[in-house]
Amino acid sequence: MEILILTDAQAVGRQAAAIVAKLVERNPEAVLGLATGASPQGLYAALADRVDAGLDLSKVAGFALDEYVGIPREHPESYAQVIDRDVTRPLGLDPRRVHVPDGRTADLEAATAAYDREIRAAGGIDLQILGIGENGHIGFNEPTSSFASRTRVKTLAPSTRAANARFFARPEDVPTHCLTQGLGTILEARQLVLVATGQSKAPAIAAAVEGPLTSMVPGSALQLHARATVIVDEAAASLLTLTDYYRYTADNRPVWQVVD
Ligand code: F6R
Repeated sequence: MEILILTDAQAVGRQAAAIVAKLVERNPEAVLGLATGASPQGLYAALADRVDAGLDLSKVAGFALDEYVGIPREHPESYAQVIDRDVTRPLGLDPRRVHVPDGRTADLEAATAAYDREIRAAGGIDLQILGIGENGHIGFNEPTSSFASRTRVKTLAPSTRAANARFFARPEDVPTHCLTQGLGTILEARQLVLVATGQSKAPAIAAAVEGPLTSMVPGSALQLHARATVIVDEAAASLLTLTDYYRYTADNRPVWQVVD
């Protein structure tokens, strides 16, 4: 795992965007896994700057990490809308290539199985963008999620509903259930890039990066991936113990050591 500690959230976004841009320059038809929430906003903003400067993302495909169950697609906080508003339009993606699991259908099990099939049919995800919850979740894989899990229905943890209440008019409006790519689905992506900023994420980052591999901290699944990069600001890195090593590694990277 590579850990990059940067000064602030903007630098985190710029670094993550540089990794995505490099992939797309190599492969204009790259398949991206798309996180929502606050964490990747800096990444998407920095990527939008690159699009303005000529980066072409029109052939890229995207698969959202998750979606709420039971709110209409038109709801401004449905992830279908959020992805459209924050990613598809500002980055100039082709909407026909952007997929979000269907949280409104009567047969959720069929919808989740279909989603995994769509990912496979697209050739798999080249780069999965991730945030992390304060309780260590990635996607909406709450603590005790199986490392082998596939896209499926999950019950949101009360703390996750409370954290996401900021996006809704009333706390009780936050859906209780969601569809999320499983940890097994996420681990199949060829590259993982997790971004986290702020002090509130420090315990989850320390547990995911340096703690034991445990389903109690779903983010620790990154330890199983051969190509995972964690990009954090100083605050989110503040409870890591090997920061000197991470900085030393980043500062002493030989030209031949390609990491992204
Ligand atoms: C969102 C997602 C979640 C968030 C996490 C952190 O698609 O999968 O895992 O990344 O809840 O949310 P923020 O970034 O809003 O703190």
